[in-house]
Amino acid sequence: MSDSQRVVVVTGGSRGIGRTVALKFAEESARIVLVHYDPDESASDETVKMLRETGVEVVSYKTDVSSTEDVKALIKEVIGSLGKIDVLINNAGITRDTLLMRMSERDWDMVISVNLKSVYNCTQAVLRQMIKQKYGRIVNISSIAGMIGNPGQANYSASKAGIIGFTKSVAREVGSRNVTINAVAPGFIETEMTADLPESVKESYLTNIPLGRAGTPHDVSEAVYWLCSEGASYLTGQTINVNGGMFM
Ligand SMILES: NC(=O)c1ccc[n+]([C@@H]2O[C@H](COP(=O)([O-])OP(=O)(O)OC[C@H]3O[C@@H](n4cnc5c(N)ncnc54)[C@H](O)[C@@H]3O)[C@@H](O)[C@H]2O)c1
Repeated sequence: MSDSQRVVVVTGGSRGIGRTVALKFAEESARIVLVHYDPDESASDETVKMLRETGVEVVSYKTDVSSTEDVKALIKEVIGSLGKIDVLINNAGITRDTLLMRMSERDWDMVISVNLKSVYNCTQAVLRQMIKQKYGRIVNISSIAGMIGNPGQANYSASKAGIIGFTKSVAREVGSRNVTINAVAPGFIETEMTADLPESVKESYLTNIPLGRAGTPHDVSEAVYWLCSEGASYLTGQTINVNGGMFM
């Protein structure tokens, strides 16, 4: 273990896009902290195994990122044991899709808390450390739904559009401290989140994608990783659309 190895926290890291992002960071032998809130540890255990096979140091926590107190405690523990946090990927997210006419207060609050409040929780918890070490890279996972809207996703779209405003404001606050914060807005990506969509919906998405295919977690992780690389050190407050041209 070397101090030059970056410490990378990936929320929602047990599967899907988060897992692939963690595997991408493993290529530079970063030290990786996964956060998830799955009912069981099976996906997380599998991701930990995949990461350990690459030789990296990894630790996984089951923590609800919508809980301000739990996130504070988690980040304190990570800094206590690993000494720093260089990169934060705010990727945890959920959907509770239904038309607004039928959307319960619970479904609204739940999606805003897990998708948006979590970004406040995790970013605020790591900022002091990043400012102290004069280095930080934060990437927030938004969505095409936050850019153009989607019927049945008023809660989700609001949370993902909120992330973009949050990203721009915080970028202005911390840019002078060499902390960058950007967003990635994926389009239609094949993961567990989209697996249950009706075939008709998937087909209609595909007809609107100029590149003619659904995205993969790999397509997203490449953009996320690049935003945390030296080559992207002059970008902050930006949102990169990774959507096959679905929205330009
Ligand atoms: N899949 C897509 O098409 C797509 C498109 C645009 C944006 N996104 C966004 O990308 C991100 C990852 O999506 P995915 O498709 O990999 O999802 P997924 O359902 O495969 O994985 C979600 C992850 O978030 C974690 N999570 C959920 N609630 C949590 C909580 N309260 N606390 C901590 N962790 C929690 C889960 O444990 C899991 O690790 C999400 O923010 C999602 O909104 C996905």
